[in-house]
Amino acid sequence: MTGGPDRYAVIGHPIAHSKSPEIHARFAAQTRQHLIYERLLAPLDGFAAAVQTFVQQGGRGANVTLPFKLEAHALATRLTARAQAAGAVNTLKFDADGILGDNTDGVGLVADIMRNAGVALAGRKVLLLGAGGAARGVVLPLLSGRPAELVIANRTHARAVELAQRFAARYGNIRAGDFAGLNERFDIVVNATSASLASDVPPVSPAVFDAGTLAYDMMYGKQPTAFMRLAAQHGAAVRDGLGMLVEQAAESFYVWRGVRPDTAAVFAELRAAL
Ligand code: ATR
Repeated sequence: MTGGPDRYAVIGHPIAHSKSPEIHARFAAQTRQHLIYERLLAPLDGFAAAVQTFVQQGGRGANVTLPFKLEAHALATRLTARAQAAGAVNTLKFDADGILGDNTDGVGLVADIMRNAGVALAGRKVLLLGAGGAARGVVLPLLSGRPAELVIANRTHARAVELAQRFAARYGNIRAGDFAGLNERFDIVVNATSASLASDVPPVSPAVFDAGTLAYDMMYGKQPTAFMRLAAQHGAAVRDGLGMLVEQAAESFYVWRGVRPDTAAVFAELRAAL
């Protein structure tokens, strides 16, 4: 039996800026998977209906972006452990059993740090800046890399304490740190705040950086972010979140298709086109 291509989409509001269709089209061509991947703009009050319509039209899976990651979590009929820990879903898979909700953001970050930047997590001191949705999504995958210590610092300290406490019962190596008292160096500093959107930097002491530090901003752009500039001034190696974007897409592709695309060429093409 020959059918049309399998259908996938990224659903968000707004959606025009999303690079996911380009990335998945490249993955599909590279791995010879017969699929199409579209952009779907859902109304702000119409996410579940948009998903249902897409499923009825034969949709096999979807990525979910702002502002619907929490609604996607609620809509899923099954959740992976990493989606449960994240409290948010960026990947939906539709099958006879219902709707699987997964979250590939954190493994995307970890893959980019370990494989692409070549920086190990095991035994290292890691500082995570921020305690919102983006930070929460990466805590479990970071802990899975077995760092010596994962410290969470946030402008609103109570949110950092709350986030660390969610994991502290199972992991002895996580704690909240106060920006004011954080004066020791870290091997890896991840900026998961939205400060870069406002060209701002979280109030972190420069003492956390030295020449052995990888400073990672989950945001990306044509120019280094203010956080990356600050870290570089204090000797750190810096990296933006473009690799995370490509790696989370590759993990979603694997969840849907069972095939792992090669991310390096796609990353280079996206970087060149920024
Ligand atoms: P997201 O889903 O992108 O994480 P969010 O849940 O609104 O968005 O969280 C934004 C995060 O960025 C929070 O950790 C926020 O700190 P507060 O909890 O104190 O609000 C952080 N943040 C945003 N702007 C910031 C800034 N200018 N300096 C430092 N932290 C900032």
